[in-house]
Amino acid sequence: MKKEYLFAPGPTPVPPQALEAMARPILHHRTGKFREIFKEISESLKEVFQTSNQVLIFGSSGTGAMEASIVNVLGPGDQALVINGGKFGERFLDLCKAYGIEIVEVPVKWGTAVNAQAVQQRLAQPGHKIKAVYATLCETSTGVVHDIEALGRVVAETNAILVVDAISGLAADQLRTDAWQVDIAIGASQKALMVPPGLAFASLSPKAWKTVEANPRKVFYFSFQLARKALEASESPFTPPVSLLMALRETLKMIREEGIDKVVARHADLARRTREGVRALGLELYAPDVSSNAVTAVKIPQGIDGSLFVKRLREGYGVTVAGGQGSLKGKIFRIAHLGYCNTFDVLTALSSVEGALNDLGFSCEPGKALQAALQTFETTH
Ligand SMILES: Cc1ncc(COP(=O)(O)O)c(C=O)c1O
Repeated sequence: MKKEYLFAPGPTPVPPQALEAMARPILHHRTGKFREIFKEISESLKEVFQTSNQVLIFGSSGTGAMEASIVNVLGPGDQALVINGGKFGERFLDLCKAYGIEIVEVPVKWGTAVNAQAVQQRLAQPGHKIKAVYATLCETSTGVVHDIEALGRVVAETNAILVVDAISGLAADQLRTDAWQVDIAIGASQKALMVPPGLAFASLSPKAWKTVEANPRKVFYFSFQLARKALEASESPFTPPVSLLMALRETLKMIREEGIDKVVARHADLARRTREGVRALGLELYAPDVSSNAVTAVKIPQGIDGSLFVKRLREGYGVTVAGGQGSLKGKIFRIAHLGYCNTFDVLTALSSVEGALNDLGFSCEPGKALQAALQTFETTH
């Protein structure tokens, strides 16, 4: 018997009540019963996004909503400022390139967070046509959390809108969408929302809607305007992933019961425990000062083959973590503490790391990471 454990930053484990909901007979989506459920879901999503605005729902992975945030907002020849500090900042660049959008890039050294002043200075330069600033809450590839509140202050002083990819950060890192003046916040189902991949979300501020309404580009499947119109009747424009929504209804109940601030606090606590644990083994964090609550990026110690380490965890312990992406391939590994996760999950992840390191010849005392993870904090989840 081999038990599998999922500690990758998405998809994340799905709780039993959500799995059970997906096994129920399919409801037809143009019925009163489904409309009621759809309405309940869209209202609960507002709490998670911390917004009073509608949260639009799409049947796609998170990138679908990222693409929607480009095509609904920008027409050919428009300019976008893209903050690029990792693989997912790069994705906004790629999307802009695909649609002929002029890019003003603010590059950020991988493993560090953006300086809002750099964005402010760029926006203050005369003669640009920047309509939107694209940022990432948790840059999953590096484990960095960016200061969205500071970016919100800077962008709010201009005519541009702030678009935030909160796909991995939502409900793990704090995101006060309205209070922080985020115009478009993007999420997806397979991270802290604890649902399988296949749902993407976008909330829009009144300022964002003005930009969208003024955009001459025609959009169909990913049209924000079509989605808004359908949502007014508690529906989606096209056949929605009914079973995923049934699962989401359950996980949103769980989040509501715990309370969004407590959900974020739990993630912060699990992140701290994980970090104390890996430090106790003599390992180094990749982004110690700006780490997201969703995922911990750890440098692979000298003399250890990073790919072999990740493989050893999977094959020897049934544990899936993520390796490094792009230029970080083989150099870091990433443990997620995201979604349906508690202290015991963190202990499992840490003890498998101890085991795999020892297997590969990096000596560490069994139990040391676990002790550090347990000792430092009083509350357990
Ligand atoms: C920060 C971030 N943005 C975008 C994505 C892409 O989302 P998807 O794979 O659901 O399209 C991910 C997925 O890992 C992510 O973590």
